[in-house]
Amino acid sequence: MNLIPLIDKLSVENNLPREELKLLLGNMTTEEEAYLFATARTTAQAVYGRNVFLRGIVEFSNYCRNDCRYCGIRASNANAERYRLSIEQILESCRRAQELGFMTVVLQSGEDLSYSDDDISDIVSEIKRRWPTCAVTLSIGEKTRESYQKYYDAGADRYLLRHETSNPLHYAYLHPSGMSVRNRQRCLEDLKDIGFQVGCGMMVGSPMQTTENILEDLLFMKDFQPHMAGIGPFIPHSGTPFAEESPGSVQLTLHLLSIIRLMLPNVLLPATTALGTSDPMGREKGILAGANVIMPNVSPVFAKKKYILYDGKICTDEDASYCNRCLEMRMKRIGYSISRSRGDYKTLDDFQSVSHIDKT
Ligand code: SAM
Ligand code: FES
Repeated sequence: MNLIPLIDKLSVENNLPREELKLLLGNMTTEEEAYLFATARTTAQAVYGRNVFLRGIVEFSNYCRNDCRYCGIRASNANAERYRLSIEQILESCRRAQELGFMTVVLQSGEDLSYSDDDISDIVSEIKRRWPTCAVTLSIGEKTRESYQKYYDAGADRYLLRHETSNPLHYAYLHPSGMSVRNRQRCLEDLKDIGFQVGCGMMVGSPMQTTENILEDLLFMKDFQPHMAGIGPFIPHSGTPFAEESPGSVQLTLHLLSIIRLMLPNVLLPATTALGTSDPMGREKGILAGANVIMPNVSPVFAKKKYILYDGKICTDEDASYCNRCLEMRMKRIGYSISRSRGDYKTLDDFQSVSHIDKT
């Protein structure tokens, strides 16, 4: 079956019937793959230009009450060296991000209940007071609607919470018994309803993931219409029950980035650190497959070395200014520039049809 007409159809209609979408998740010829990447790239460029948005990520605590089976900072990994950044250390990391011209900071942590809602709100409002033009993204897990509302009222703009998988059985395989697809999706709905720009997403190749699961994830995303989508390969961590599992495929991750770009043309789509860890050129390949965001780490180096979700994580020795220069050069080499704007989600009104544009 020739997949080029399906890629064209997806690019024009931003949707495909389930069975056709499934064909795009199977094998592709080199020509079909190149066409998929080029079409997704053209779509991303039509909406956001040849720009890559940087988000400075501050990993402020690796304490976590959860026990997700894939994750290196899961509560029962006794070998994880735990740390928490003080409010001053978090603000110092944000200052570093500002100095480097990153117009978004992402505050990420395990689910660490030692930071109260008031603490998080105070940190957000202090960032906004010091750097009013900087966007603040939170990625701190599942909370009540009331908590999310407090963070939003304090000035947080965006929230990342991967849905991980939309299949309840697969979800149960990856997570401890207290967690559920239902609550995860309730969180995502609440966040969107409150007014956040919201990111969902999943790992590619997580243990027991099937093609049907990926298909369900794509359909979930199409229906949910996230502003951001975090898609990266699963990478095993030696201190987890999945230590011996195989890593997710870089190639499938790239295909999915392109498919998601075509389904959701305006989505903000990171070429993730996990992709860069799985393949030394992973972030470049991700951008060339339609991604448009990179999230350099601006945490202090001692924290970077301890926030280890999977083995071999890149950029844990380098400080943020080194990564900034490195990324600038890497993006330039593939014909892209780093944008110093906030890189907010563009609404459909901002987006013009790109179906007529040459796929060069
Ligand atoms: N606690 C927050 C949450 O649950 O959203 C944020 C931190 S959590 C560690 C961030 C993301 O890392 C997860 O959503 C998961 O998809 C990803 N992750 C965790 N372990 C991973 C692994 N072994 N390989 C690839 N990605 C992983
Ligand atoms: Fe960190 Fe290249 S981006 S060393």
